[in-house]
Amino acid sequence: MSKLKIAVQKSGRLYEESMQILKDIGISIDNGRDQLKASAKNFPVEVFYLRNGDIPQYLKDGVVDAAIIGENVLIEKGGNIQIIQKLGFSSCKVSIAVPKSAKYTNMQDLDGKRIATSYPNTVQQFLDKNNVNAQLHIINGSVEIAPNIGLADAIVDIVSSGSTLFKNGLKEVEVLLKSEAVLAASPLISDDNLDILNTIKFRIGSVLKGRRSKYVLLNAPNDKLEEIIAILPGMKSPTVLPLAQEGWSSVHTVIDKNKFWEIIDILKEHGAEGILVCPIDNMIL
Ligand code: PRP
Repeated sequence: MSKLKIAVQKSGRLYEESMQILKDIGISIDNGRDQLKASAKNFPVEVFYLRNGDIPQYLKDGVVDAAIIGENVLIEKGGNIQIIQKLGFSSCKVSIAVPKSAKYTNMQDLDGKRIATSYPNTVQQFLDKNNVNAQLHIINGSVEIAPNIGLADAIVDIVSSGSTLFKNGLKEVEVLLKSEAVLAASPLISDDNLDILNTIKFRIGSVLKGRRSKYVLLNAPNDKLEEIIAILPGMKSPTVLPLAQEGWSSVHTVIDKNKFWEIIDILKEHGAEGILVCPIDNMIL
């Protein structure tokens, strides 16, 4: 039977959540990342633990069929690699930063300057687009130190919380792109493995919908039911069940996690009581 080869980051910011999402979609992995690859017990998948920067090439060459990888790395090194699904974690930006004390009004201030980065293709494209001529210094880690040691006037690197920039006395001045973890496919994936990948995509979709939602149960007096139902932006229509206590009903529905507190406050104002809120593992619509 055909097995889908899926690459994940061997170490780094995507690793934990990549393994968590595989677990959440019911794929349990036999052995850890000390091995280069591991098989799933219950699903036709082999997981390859690879260096982040190598994954786009493995996808291009068809060495792996799919990968969980940062969009930023795909944009830098990719080409013809299809993004199957955004995964909603490891959000970051790829940004230009300069020393806090540096004068910066626009991109022209970088003309003739030195920029240290691990993203030379992304940076060069951005410079070309803005008609800026700068000298690139390609370094593979600790990029933010470059201005402090006199290696560069500016840097381009990923910014997540912004704390690395802050600690190194830098300020963000331009955002080149926004990125998150994605599920990506090799252009050489076989039809059989594409079927497996589509099953993974379907399962991930239902896990992500679940993560974005909350299941809400509440009690409401029957004379307030209509207005309470009007407040609830449910999947279709909320489930309404009579309570043992006459004149009251139980209302069940799903609401968006981000709107949750706002909606709960309005529900209380309209007479809802005994509100229970539960997490959702999966939503299969
Ligand atoms: C990345 C990046 C920055 C830092 C930004 O490094 O290179 O240094 O994160 O994150 P922050 O805005 O939350 O401070 P990472 O630790 O992922 O490892 P790397 O040095 O291998 O890129």
